Amino acid sequence: MLDVQQGAWGKNDLETVPVHLLRAIADELDPVGLVLGYYDGDRPVGYLLGLPGPDWRSALMHQVAVVPSHASKGIAHELMSEMAWTYREMGIERIFWTYDPLEAANANLYIRKIGGIAERYLVDYYGKIDSTLYGDLATDRFYVSWYLTVRPESEGAPERVQIPEDISGIKAEDPKAAKVWRERTRKKFTELMSDGYVVTGFDRSHMGCEYVLTKLKDEL
Ligand SMILES: CC(C)(COP(=O)(O)OP(=O)(O)OC[C@H]1O[C@@H](n2cnc3c(N)ncnc32)[C@H](O)[C@@H]1OP(=O)(O)O)[C@@H](O)C(=O)NCCC(=O)NCCS
Repeated sequence: MLDVQQGAWGKNDLETVPVHLLRAIADELDPVGLVLGYYDGDRPVGYLLGLPGPDWRSALMHQVAVVPSHASKGIAHELMSEMAWTYREMGIERIFWTYDPLEAANANLYIRKIGGIAERYLVDYYGKIDSTLYGDLATDRFYVSWYLTVRPESEGAPERVQIPEDISGIKAEDPKAAKVWRERTRKKFTELMSDGYVVTGFDRSHMGCEYVLTKLKDEL
């Protein structure tokens, strides 16, 4: 599982969840503490880490990762489906996690494929992290919930917010442009969310990548 993390996020010991912690989570926080592996033959290529939530009806998906050689084959989706099946059996109704709103592949998986709802925008969530993984970009995050029993319904006219197709490439080639994307999208998301909008959709087409924000019929 360490190899999978380092394959997905880069070789950085400080950013890697160590074996002793994975062991403790899987054993001592059983059954909600969950460490899932996805194997290609004997080789682990995917990993998911689940933790107990603040109450017995919710759980945190702390991490999911797939090595680049096996990306876009539906492995993360399969790991998340397995997690949802396991948690649903325990009576858990909501899985939540955070991710960088500018990451289009994550948005496609979490919002479009899984049907997660981004309910909150967290400004500079982890603060400044001295790591090549984050670069100079503020660590803003969406807080996403996946409702396993009933998905809240939208109402009213939607709003749209565009993000770049490849923020990693922009971070590497033009860090200033990446910061502009961060600032521009932070402003739009925080304004819309303070007006009651949440993120309920994500479109990826030849026109680019766009989030869809709507209001919900009932309060969460
Ligand atoms: C994010 C991650 C877990 C996705 O894993 P995966 O196995 O490739 O995911 P899936 O194949 O199930 O789904 C990814 C979807 O995004 C699409 N996608 C890939 N790159 C994309 C991009 N740049 N823009 C938009 N969509 C993209 C894929 O085509 C796929 O959709 P599809 O099935 O409709 O074709 C993996 O890329 C990863 O480990 N990234 C680094 C670690 C990370 O960011 N983890 C999440 C935060 S904890």
